[in-house]
Amino acid sequence: MRRGSIVALLALALIAGGVAAAVALVPAWLPEDASRQAGRIAFVFWFVIAICIVIFAVVAAVMIYAVMHFRVPEDDLEDGPPVHGHTGLEITWTVIPFLLVTSIAIVSAIVLSRNDAQARDTLHVNVTAQQFAFTFSYPDAKNATSPVLRLPKGRSVELYMRSLDVIHSVFVPQFSVKEDVVPGLVTQLHITPTRLGTFPLECTELCGLGHSLMRSQAIVMTPAAFDAWLKQQAKSAAPAPSTTSTSTTSTPASAAGLSAFNTYGCSGCHTLTAAKATGAVGPNLDKLVSYAKQANQPLAAFVHESIVDPNAYVQQGYPKGVMPQNFAQKLTKSELDALVTFLVESAESASKKG
Ligand code: CUA
Repeated sequence: MRRGSIVALLALALIAGGVAAAVALVPAWLPEDASRQAGRIAFVFWFVIAICIVIFAVVAAVMIYAVMHFRVPEDDLEDGPPVHGHTGLEITWTVIPFLLVTSIAIVSAIVLSRNDAQARDTLHVNVTAQQFAFTFSYPDAKNATSPVLRLPKGRSVELYMRSLDVIHSVFVPQFSVKEDVVPGLVTQLHITPTRLGTFPLECTELCGLGHSLMRSQAIVMTPAAFDAWLKQQAKSAAPAPSTTSTSTTSTPASAAGLSAFNTYGCSGCHTLTAAKATGAVGPNLDKLVSYAKQANQPLAAFVHESIVDPNAYVQQGYPKGVMPQNFAQKLTKSELDALVTFLVESAESASKKG
């Protein structure tokens, strides 16, 4: 092979590799890492991308060189000379890909096993998914529930995820982890947050009409702030002494109703001051008194019907069919009654206030 050809091939490879590297590096393809898992996954990603760029540069250089130098003249109608096997070349193009693919498999296996390795002080969080909300509960805080996932920075966290209805999936882009939540199974997801902040937590499995609305947040706090929050949750999860209670949970039925409200994820979609819920997907439950008037029904009957048969009357301005039809089937009869009592009492007290 002539020296000029080698120089030309090298120059072409450098140009092609440079263009591919610029496309890979200049736009921000991945969100900024916020977990130890994400950092390791990004390493695998860039390891594979680097291999791809080198292969692309070699193939593109040879292809462009061949197009430029071995063009058939227009009047040449003959076939080229027959080409037989070249053992050395064949061994080369078998061994190199074998080594590359094997190295990718080894690096991936190491990253996968390290990403799932739990530390000794792993924090357990139970996740309940249902159409169309996530609820997070903390066994360390007497199973206190939260509509957002709060995590301490730097600590290993294991999510135990259950679904009450169909298949959902939990994904936080900045954590680079995703796992399906399947009815009848408890799936796990391991996260070690490394950056303070609020990140989107979304459902990534088409789970019904409200799928696109099934979003929550992952909030990474300093360990001290998280411990303080967890203690506070444990306190409010315990039966509150009546003197310190500022909410409207005056009767036992209404307290059971608040607990059902939190357990079944109502706060994922609805606003209700009495439950400190701020969801904006479905109707604002502080306004139930005026909604019942618009629907021309007594308040308690209206609330009961709206839970059992959500599409019988849909408040204007809110999407039809998003509140799950089978929602009431998840509740026991006494839970349903308690929930209705709680909503009626909260709505009446909210309408008196404003
Ligand atoms: Cu749950 Cu999509």
